[in-house]
Amino acid sequence: MLEVDAIEVRYGNIVALSEVSFRVTEGEIVTLIGANGAGKSTSLRSVSGLLPLSAGSIRFEGESIDRMAPEDIVRKGIAHSPEGRRVFPGLTVAENLELGATPWRKRGDTIDADIDRVYALFPRLKERHKQLAWSMSGGEQQMLAVGRALMGRPRLLLLDEPSLGLAPIIVEQLFEKIASINQLGVTILLVEQNAAMALSVATRAYLIENGRIVLADTTEKMRNHPRVREAYLGA
Ligand SMILES: Nc1ncnc2c1ncn2[C@@H]1O[C@H](COP(=O)(O)OP(=O)(O)O)[C@@H](O)[C@H]1O
Ligand SMILES: [Mg+2]
Repeated sequence: MLEVDAIEVRYGNIVALSEVSFRVTEGEIVTLIGANGAGKSTSLRSVSGLLPLSAGSIRFEGESIDRMAPEDIVRKGIAHSPEGRRVFPGLTVAENLELGATPWRKRGDTIDADIDRVYALFPRLKERHKQLAWSMSGGEQQMLAVGRALMGRPRLLLLDEPSLGLAPIIVEQLFEKIASINQLGVTILLVEQNAAMALSVATRAYLIENGRIVLADTTEKMRNHPRVREAYLGA
């Protein structure tokens, strides 16, 4: 479904990604784990067209997307829930969701079904649909950020560190939802510093260090890999 092939991405003179390759097959949850500054967000931003490549290629469903504008990539079926859950603080939950709706809907095509789908996944958002986003807890804001990304009816969902700053119990609940979203037919590329949680939900994993992919394997093999255990799982 997604093929990232030997990409290089720079910020000015700084090379943030070097020969990064990974792929995501339809139906999977794939995770990219790595420490702060390793290049995880840069990888997601490259896929969603927010950063230009200086080398390599990105294909989605066989079509080259690496020179496409971000809005066209969204239209192809890729949604990006960015790091730091950027909800609109002064808008209500419902208004935040409406802003995530596909802008290219046909006339008469309402967003009610999309909103209902998000509320079915996150009943808490339904309960709080009139509440202003800033007044929600961190976990609720993260649900809202994910819900908003789902409003675009993506086939591939890019999640950037959904666990960041959340209590362990909230992270567990959120990751159950990520699994549910996948079961609804949405393929997921999950980027995480929280390797233990990411490996618990994904089927395959890549480890990124200093802008390079250093390991790629099934999550089971990753969990037992000495390098991963020592440096990322605290074993
Ligand atoms: N806007 C930017 N300008 C310059 N350097 C950046 C910028 N964003 C990220 N970087 C650098 O690129 C590298 C990868 O960053 P990032 O992809 O954000 O890592 P991660 O998401 O894994 O924490 C880091 O060295 C970071 O300092
Ligand atoms: Mg990041």
